[in-house]
Amino acid sequence: MPRMYITTPIYYANGPAHLGHAYTTIAGDVIARWYRLKLGDKNVLFTTGMDEHGSKVQKAAKEKGVSPQKFVDGMAERFKNTWKLLHISYDDFIRTTEKRHKETVKKVFKKLVDSGDIYKGIYEGWYCVPCESFWTDLQLAEEKCPECGRKVDKVKEESYFFRLSKYQDKLLKLYEDRPDFLSPKHRSKEIVNRVKEGLKDLSISRKKVDWGIEFPLDPKLTLYVWKEALINYLSLVGFPDGKKFKEFWPAIHIMAKEIYWFHGVIWPAMLMSAGIPVPRKVFAHGWLTVEGRKMSKSFGNFLVPEDIVKKYGVDQFRYFLMKSLPFGEDGDFSEEALRARINGELVADLGNLVSRVTKLAERHEGKLCGKDALGDRLELKQIEKDMEAFELHHALEKIWSFVRICNKYINNNEPWKQSGKELGETMYNLLEALRVLSVLLEPFLPETAGRLRKQLRIGPGTIRDCAFRKEATRPGKGEHLFRRVE
Ligand code: MSP
Repeated sequence: MPRMYITTPIYYANGPAHLGHAYTTIAGDVIARWYRLKLGDKNVLFTTGMDEHGSKVQKAAKEKGVSPQKFVDGMAERFKNTWKLLHISYDDFIRTTEKRHKETVKKVFKKLVDSGDIYKGIYEGWYCVPCESFWTDLQLAEEKCPECGRKVDKVKEESYFFRLSKYQDKLLKLYEDRPDFLSPKHRSKEIVNRVKEGLKDLSISRKKVDWGIEFPLDPKLTLYVWKEALINYLSLVGFPDGKKFKEFWPAIHIMAKEIYWFHGVIWPAMLMSAGIPVPRKVFAHGWLTVEGRKMSKSFGNFLVPEDIVKKYGVDQFRYFLMKSLPFGEDGDFSEEALRARINGELVADLGNLVSRVTKLAERHEGKLCGKDALGDRLELKQIEKDMEAFELHHALEKIWSFVRICNKYINNNEPWKQSGKELGETMYNLLEALRVLSVLLEPFLPETAGRLRKQLRIGPGTIRDCAFRKEATRPGKGEHLFRRVE
């Protein structure tokens, strides 16, 4: 039985989750829920967590006047609450301050040392604390961090290095042999070109940072936070002997484009060095922007999911994100656009369909069966293809076309003028369509799908239940799924 291990990045614990973090986590949740429908719950592992070490987190704790541990404990709780609110169905949540992580880091590090890929040298260059990133002179943008545009610190220190340069050819071969490894395709070109230009060895230790993992070869140094953070994906499955490691590794990593390099280049090189299979896929999506600028803590232009959900509802928010941003591209968030989608699509298309069908069903007491006139109009094969290519917006678009087809079918058939067998056949088609929709909507709108199932008086289904059956089940009383917003 094929299995799926899907990860989100582990988020920095220096502040609460904003809509940008929610975007990746919801997308991961949609993919995980889809695979659960297809492969069964036991065969899917979906994880998220917190990146809790580093000077950035230490600084945030200091500003609040609490110990870093207390600070990250509070932040992890906040993140978990946010994910609960957004119906994120993660199977495991990792924190880099956990023992299981620290132990895995040691084991993986030892493998890197054993392969001869760690050596001592002098690091001279620039460091951006907010991004926890090293930069060379050439990479700087007008003497500022090319990532966030802020001041960088000059560093010259004794450092340990990882022989990233050794993996240039192996990485290029990997990208060539497995064209889907870096996805989406258009985004991978930039990475491949940069790797072709040559790879520099990576500095992996920092002068002592109090809040971090001690450098295994020298207690006076701290392990570079990115180097340990990536290893979380192995800590989660209990590398090297854990059952989950054997069952689920390699993973599919999802993240936004600014950390594609870490996941698509540094991480596979580390894994090759440690003799561990490389990920199955590394997928970088675009940014959620506000007036064209990346939503981020650093820019201060962020909104928190709690406020949006309170005002508009959780599935409304999930729907907006999945429908408005082609998965892989940037897309702007605005409340005005969210309201337009709620009123124009959730209320007018889906809400309307469900309330019409459940009301019309009250008029018919006979059998709910007949000729299948709607089932063929659902592009199920294509939806499956889109989902598996992570073209989530296309899949949702096709599900939505089906909702609209069903509304048209009501208009054309005018069931209010029908009776007897004819009405039974129309209602059979519509109720079966709603049953199938309750399955297909589950990944995107889990709460709505649950409410729909309740109205239809049916239990959860799987992808195999998406074909029309011989007879439809009689629904219960209808209720409106969505409310218009002003
Ligand atoms: N801690 C590192 C990741 C280590 S993973 C081994 C980190 N953390 S972060 O808190 O900055 O989170 C970055 C990730 O959050 C992005 O890659 C993306 O998944 C998500 N996003 C944060 N802001 C975002 C947007 N504005 N838009 C889309 N995704 C965003 O980097």
